[in-house]
Amino acid sequence: MDHLRLLTDLHRHAARQGPGGEAESRQAMRLAGLAPSRPLEIADIGCGTGAAAILLAKELDAHVTAVDFLPEFLDELRSRAHSQGVADKITTCACSMDALPFADAYFDVIWSEGAIYNMGFEAGVSTWRRLLKPGGMLVVSEITWLGATRPPEIQAHWEGEYPQIDVASAKIAILERHGYSPWGYFVLPRHCWTEHYYRPMQRRFHAFLERHGRSDAARAVVEAEKTEIAMYETHGEHYGYGVYVAKNIGR
Ligand SMILES: C[S@@+](CC[C@H](N)C(=O)[O-])C[C@H]1O[C@@H](n2cnc3c(N)ncnc32)[C@H](O)[C@@H]1O
Repeated sequence: MDHLRLLTDLHRHAARQGPGGEAESRQAMRLAGLAPSRPLEIADIGCGTGAAAILLAKELDAHVTAVDFLPEFLDELRSRAHSQGVADKITTCACSMDALPFADAYFDVIWSEGAIYNMGFEAGVSTWRRLLKPGGMLVVSEITWLGATRPPEIQAHWEGEYPQIDVASAKIAILERHGYSPWGYFVLPRHCWTEHYYRPMQRRFHAFLERHGRSDAARAVVEAEKTEIAMYETHGEHYGYGVYVAKNIGR
């Protein structure tokens, strides 16, 4: 089984595939001024198994288009949405975030948690803006340096993994350059990484390895996740997920 299939298998039965939390998604909703008082078209891009899409569907008068390129995650999302009574408010789309098949100005809100790095922050926010109505809101979380300096080993690690990692002021400047007005920013607290993402993942390691006969490839997947977790435990005060809320003010 190839690496992507193994990663998909490790994560497909999880409630979320990256750091986050319901309280923090609600905080972002408040900053974006989203309330159930008007019907909304929302795209959740890189939705995974639907942590945000399902919450948005439950709490707002919204139709959510949940986009991910992995059909296995979308299958799980539909099943979770069904059991939580919001299946009729969510449509899934198996497509790539860099070629979204939607009309210009179709969405009131573009939401994306922990996923925009797959195409890069600047490419994502600039490409997706055409999908937003004038005055529409963008809510996106992005790996961010939490201060101006950090130890060389964590700098080197992230420059290898994601060279676009930067401080919040640089990300906000990108938003401004691409036709957005910044409306809010906050950092996901530590428990969004540890209690909501890493601990549940660690609890899945044993069954995952057994399912794959403890193959070299499966063990390599687990080792890579353990390295990421150890990195966060050692250096997590230097980086985090920034949540950026911005309004489309471009033409
Ligand atoms: C770190 S996970 C975050 C998932 C979810 N938003 C969450 O917070 O639980 C990133 C997601 O982006 C999806 N993804 C990666 N590359 C993609 C692409 N090119 N197009 C669409 N989805 C993509 C992955 O399948 C995965 O579900």
